Amino acid sequence: MKIALLGYGKMGKELEQVAQQHNHRVIIRADVENISSLKDSELKSADVALEFSTPASAFENILRCINAGVPVVCGTTGWTERIEEIKSVCREKNGAVFYAPNFSIGVNIFFEINSRLAELMRNRTEYEPEIYEVHHIHKKDKPSGTAIALAETIIASGGKKTQWKLRDNKNVSTEKEIMVTSVRENEVPGIHTVKYFSQDDEIEITHGAKGRRAFASGAIMAAEWLQGKKGFYGMKDMM
Ligand SMILES: NC(=O)c1ccc[n+]([C@@H]2O[C@H](COP(=O)([O-])OP(=O)(O)OC[C@H]3O[C@@H](n4cnc5c(N)ncnc54)[C@H](O)[C@@H]3O)[C@@H](O)[C@H]2O)c1
Repeated sequence: MKIALLGYGKMGKELEQVAQQHNHRVIIRADVENISSLKDSELKSADVALEFSTPASAFENILRCINAGVPVVCGTTGWTERIEEIKSVCREKNGAVFYAPNFSIGVNIFFEINSRLAELMRNRTEYEPEIYEVHHIHKKDKPSGTAIALAETIIASGGKKTQWKLRDNKNVSTEKEIMVTSVRENEVPGIHTVKYFSQDDEIEITHGAKGRRAFASGAIMAAEWLQGKKGFYGMKDMM
């Protein structure tokens, strides 16, 4: 595949390495410095765009790919309040978009365990769920897209929680809110924990990433899988 990297930061560079190992060719490396000089004709020559930029730029970049007819795999988090708009443009223009807040296969197995645990806890009102995430200090959004996905699964299970809340200085949440704690520390690639407390015990599940490679490998796998498809997809479709 000929690949356009939209975002050439830490993830863009990791994606380039994994792409080369899979015998793909990176033909565009766009970042904040040179994205405005990227011509549509150049973008159109890519078989797929990998969008790992910033919360402020992801929406426009995805839209641009759809309009140029280039399938796009997006891993940027912190922009998904506009995801329904992207889904509808994707439908209208017969585009191909793959979005995942976390491309690691391990995390997606972790999502399944979280879903099953939430189901088991649905009527166990004596247990209080909480979510913790730790990431490197350069991460721009809070909580992480992965923590939001974990919380949304617990909410969708139909138990007592109907929304999530980012822990702040006040440190209070209502009966209906899942408290999400975000910590920014050194160069931590990503740790997510879901914990259920009762007065008598606690249950905890944790996923810890060892580096960025797992995300990059999953994104390249998604790019290969997306070839020849139309529509809006996520990890559940691929796995
Ligand atoms: N889905 C996943 O599995 C996954 C995994 C890791 C990181 N992420 C997310 O990917 C994103 C990028 O992460 P990172 O660690 O590479 O960040 P980074 O800060 O190292 O890199 C961001 C890059 O985006 C570029 N950029 C800024 N504006 C741009 C624009 N308009 N068009 C194109 N590029 C632009 C910057 O120049 C920079 O090179 C973040 O949102 C992060 O949360 C997702």
